[in-house]
Amino acid sequence: MLRKTKTTLGFAMAMVALTLGSCGSEPEKKTSAPGVDNTAPATPAVNGETVYKNTCVACHQADGKGVAKTFPPLVHSDFLANKEAVITQVINGKSGELVVNGETYNNTMPPQNLKDEEIAAVLTYVYTHFNDGGPVTVEEVKAVREKGKTN
Ligand code: HEC
Repeated sequence: MLRKTKTTLGFAMAMVALTLGSCGSEPEKKTSAPGVDNTAPATPAVNGETVYKNTCVACHQADGKGVAKTFPPLVHSDFLANKEAVITQVINGKSGELVVNGETYNNTMPPQNLKDEEIAAVLTYVYTHFNDGGPVTVEEVKAVREKGKTN
């Protein structure tokens, strides 16, 4: 009984707040493509440059040129030709020999604990800002991750 009264009161308060809140303002129109789940929280677009500066810059440097014999470059790296290997590199990291533009590196890149959206964004930044490549999509990252699970 008491509970019901509380709920009713709460509802009334919410209605008041709602009425006050919408007073004088145009109702917001929500348009979405068919099949889009409007109830899902909106994820703010991930900024690849920000991810790069927070995550990769320590080793690959702000200019993407890396550090001689230690951290390979991302600028004009021939390794980038194999997109799948690049996505795998970011997800799993790598230890041991790795050749970039004819130079052999033998170091360790730790796995990068990033969401698929962040990996897509940061790699798009790497491909478009440091190179003349195209974007890397979330779907491509997901596909590589799925493949890694089944292999
Ligand atoms: C702690 C240092 C470190 C961080 C952080 C790091 N890397 Fe690396 N990365 C390396 C090292 C070292 C290698 C070479 C690994 C080897 O020698 O086996 C490498 C290799 C690579 C390669 C393949 C070789 C090349 O230069 O094309 C790519 C692509 C790459 N990293 C991308 C990234 C991206 C993108 C990030 C950020 C999301 C990142 N790395 C963060 C150290 C790092």
